[in-house]
Amino acid sequence: MGLPVLNTIGLSIHRIAKCPTEKDGIMAKVHRDDEVDLKVLSTRKIGIVGYGNQGRAQALNIRDSGFEPMVANRDDEYKAKAIRDGFKVHSISHVAKEADVILVLIPDEVQPQVYHKHIQPHLWPGDVLCFASGYNVYYKAIEPPEGIGVIMVAPRMIGEAVRNLYKNGLGFPCLVACREGGNGQSMPIALALAKAIGATRLGAFESSFKEEVMIDLFAEQMLWPGILKLCLLYFEKLTDYGCDPEVVTSELHLSGEFVEIAKAMITHGFFGQLKLHSQTSQYGQLSCMDRMAPPELLAYTNEALEKIASGKFHAEWAEEQKHGKPNMKRLWQQIRRHPLAESEAKLDTLRKIVAKSYEGRR
Ligand code: NAI
Repeated sequence: MGLPVLNTIGLSIHRIAKCPTEKDGIMAKVHRDDEVDLKVLSTRKIGIVGYGNQGRAQALNIRDSGFEPMVANRDDEYKAKAIRDGFKVHSISHVAKEADVILVLIPDEVQPQVYHKHIQPHLWPGDVLCFASGYNVYYKAIEPPEGIGVIMVAPRMIGEAVRNLYKNGLGFPCLVACREGGNGQSMPIALALAKAIGATRLGAFESSFKEEVMIDLFAEQMLWPGILKLCLLYFEKLTDYGCDPEVVTSELHLSGEFVEIAKAMITHGFFGQLKLHSQTSQYGQLSCMDRMAPPELLAYTNEALEKIASGKFHAEWAEEQKHGKPNMKRLWQQIRRHPLAESEAKLDTLRKIVAKSYEGRR
């Protein structure tokens, strides 16, 4: 644990210890294309396990960056896709045996089982294992032996965009971290991989397995559910009040205004975008904002952070999976019955028109 710093609501939080290379400054170190050397990869065989969202995008970008990655996949539709893209597809054990740098790009939930069965038995000292999230390393579900470098190259971007941005000569942010394997090469390899997939065109931020888990899971357990719940409340209150469900649904998300506001947060700044709204809107937003975070919500945010950091959430999710995800199934059934889903279905034509207008805009 590092220095305690104050966050905006005055609670004391701790900066999270990062990679050994971290400087003491508050600002994270960011690496860009011109300072990262790809040479460290030229003598190493890169293996990619999984050809899904991230696997496909990263394999294609790495190949277009001048390397010949080996691809491993079980027998399924992803394997067929990899073959269509011109890769020879191997078994996971074969790639674990042959490759020096192994990118584990299968879902976090299945990684421990696949790792223990097909990867770990074939590791040699000096090999480097690369993850696109900090999840299994932070929660110690995967603990590679001494002598194995463990790195994280975690794009803050969905796989499809990782590929499209690369093809358009653009980058995306990513977080990198490492646990040295003993030869001092883990961080240079992480940065070279970040460059090969196109991330350092924008910036690779030195981070840690823990920090990646915290920002990822806290968004999933506080930010996104908060937004979803407020949207539902908006729909419920206005329709109860007598407003037309289709008009409310259109206003909520189908008009595309939501997306435009999110984009304006980038082009004009998080607060700057407020200036694009009317004075009435600006006053309404600024004067009501604090009411949206009552003490119960603040208490929940602390509870959620603690649950993520301590591993309690990890244990709960592991238990849920062990029993065939009964709660997740129930929650899905419940949410599908919400009147918003019915209203959205009635507006399918409008949704398709708006969706079409977004095609090719990325
Ligand atoms: P995915 O769901 O697209 O993975 C599909 C791949 O996993 C396929 O190749 C499939 O054959 C393989 N697979 C699935 N179950 C398997 C099993 N039991 N045994 C062997 N292979 C199996 O995964 P995704 O979303 O690409 O995630 C990969 C990693 O990237 C994860 O660590 C995730 O946290 C991280 N990540 C994902 C992002 C995304 O946009 N989806 C963004 C940033 C990081």
